[in-house]
Amino acid sequence: MFARSPARPLLFGQRHATPGPLHSPGGRLSTRAPGRGAVAGRGRCPCARAGAGFRGPAWKESRGSRVLVCMATLGLIGSGHIGSTLARLAVDAGLDVVLSNSRGPETLSELVAELGPRARAGTAEEAAAAGDWVVVTIPLKAYQQVPVEPLAGKTVIDTNNYYPDRDGKFPALDSGETTSSELLQRHLKRSQVVKAFNNIYFKHLAALPRPAGAADRTALPIAGDDATAKVNAAELINTLGFDTVDAGPLAEGWRFEPGTPVYGTPYTEKSTSHFVDVPAGPAAADRIAEDLAAAKH
Ligand SMILES: NC(=O)c1ccc[n+]([C@@H]2O[C@H](COP(=O)([O-])OP(=O)(O)OC[C@H]3O[C@@H](n4cnc5c(N)ncnc54)[C@H](OP(=O)(O)O)[C@@H]3O)[C@@H](O)[C@H]2O)c1
Repeated sequence: MFARSPARPLLFGQRHATPGPLHSPGGRLSTRAPGRGAVAGRGRCPCARAGAGFRGPAWKESRGSRVLVCMATLGLIGSGHIGSTLARLAVDAGLDVVLSNSRGPETLSELVAELGPRARAGTAEEAAAAGDWVVVTIPLKAYQQVPVEPLAGKTVIDTNNYYPDRDGKFPALDSGETTSSELLQRHLKRSQVVKAFNNIYFKHLAALPRPAGAADRTALPIAGDDATAKVNAAELINTLGFDTVDAGPLAEGWRFEPGTPVYGTPYTEKSTSHFVDVPAGPAAADRIAEDLAAAKH
């Protein structure tokens, strides 16, 4: 009934579907250019079934031969614990990344050098403009500084959490009247915001990626108001090594905010609320769906 690829989110409460083939950005389609006897794009281009993030095949030089690769870029607004971890996962998965922070691109040169030729740094506007998906991963208090225009029409992934001690008081969040990702969505009216990556500690995020179909693959919850954007976000998350569980619209994002059962705790080998002190352990989609259901306001 729910025979979907792992790039499509499992709906909250559903059983894990049979995994489909792994999307492979950077995958080789042919090792020779047209005109030298090869059939360009022989086989099925992974872009054909990928989400909006994948721009389609392009020829690139690699080790002396021309190869056809699928191109896609992840833009990062914020390059701290979570932003840099996502950048490493993205580069490992064959994506290009454009990093940004509040202090300027020159302050990211060390990280860019570590990440290699797929990475560059820019302003927040440049990262927003370059990204096929853009992740906003900054302290919540700065959300109104996120550039609006270059993100219009894009899937924007929001990792932010509300911590009053760090961010100051937001009465509408304290009262439960709205959620932090809805605030970002209101700021980015012409973008499609998907909440993701906010409930996993960055060290566990770094440790838990697995290929699609692996028995110990971990799932992450997502929420969003736009179905296509959720598929796009799930494609990215799948490419980075995780399944997804759809928690519903952004208004349901509270189910995986700080203090809920699914916040940090499932991704540890001992399943403790002191999750930052414990090594990573995988958490499958069924567990994540159960924990989302157990959340209480
Ligand atoms: N740490 C975790 O394990 C974790 C897990 C899940 C979710 N989160 C949430 O994800 C968000 C980021 O967390 P983090 O731990 O990665 O934070 P972090 O390490 O403090 O990094 C924050 C990043 O945001 C940048 N930044 C701040 N204001 C900005 C602005 N106006 N424009 C562009 N960039 C800006 C900072 O740049 P500068 O350094 O140049 O100021 C820095 O690169 C937070 O909301 C956090 O609650 C964190």
